[in-house]
Amino acid sequence: MGAIVAPPAFWRYPRVIAHRGGGTLAPENTLAALHMAVERGYRAVEFDVMLSADGTPVIIHDETLERTTNGRGDVAETSAAVLATLDAGGWFGAQFTGESVPRFADAGALCVTSGLWANVEIKPSAGADRATGRKTALLAAKLWADAPLPPLLSSFSTVALEAAHEVAPHLPRGLLYDAPSVDWLRELRRLECVSLHCNVRHFTPALLNEAQTHGVPVVLYTVNDVDTAACWLDAGVAAVITDRLDLIAPDLAGRT
Ligand code: G3P
Ligand code: MG
Repeated sequence: MGAIVAPPAFWRYPRVIAHRGGGTLAPENTLAALHMAVERGYRAVEFDVMLSADGTPVIIHDETLERTTNGRGDVAETSAAVLATLDAGGWFGAQFTGESVPRFADAGALCVTSGLWANVEIKPSAGADRATGRKTALLAAKLWADAPLPPLLSSFSTVALEAAHEVAPHLPRGLLYDAPSVDWLRELRRLECVSLHCNVRHFTPALLNEAQTHGVPVVLYTVNDVDTAACWLDAGVAAVITDRLDLIAPDLAGRT
């Protein structure tokens, strides 16, 4: 085993993050999922923010409603009032029936009151990059105004990241990739992002080395086995995002 490498010193956030709130233990992107993270002792969550038809930031992953709710059609064409009537839990298990599609305002408030740190993924529907980046960042700034640690905003959309920066430059931002492009570092600097977020399937020791050389913290998703999580964290990856709250302890044997 090689020497254990610490993440860049300014990584002040937890190193194990629950994906979509509660991973596989609760319906994704619901308040029940956030409660599950707290119950499991997690100190950090990731979730996805999209705009409803009337421009309200809500917590949902897909652009369409069918997979995770009992509704039909596009999130971007459904009002927040209608979204609030949908069931976003029954598909996952009968005990979660009645969970709604949360407003970001409610999910953020729950994080702040329960001491959960958040990686807020800005997830624009097609063509809504600027508006989603702007509204998510504005609301995040308000919700976390008095919190000890700001949330980390991240996105695959560089337009959304630019819009977030314009309205809330003090909030840290992460640049999300599936597989990082060859010019990821230049792009990260241009956008004034603080972290590189990468799919674990496409991550390599060479990429970690490049990030470490330039002092860039790396966040890997979605890491669902203990050995892979421990290995990358010990190599100096700043944080892992996981679905397996049942397998991966929030402190992963002291790697907090
Ligand atoms: O933020 C990391 C990860 O959530 C990105 O992929 O599709 O699960 O939102 P996705
Ligand atoms: Mg996400």
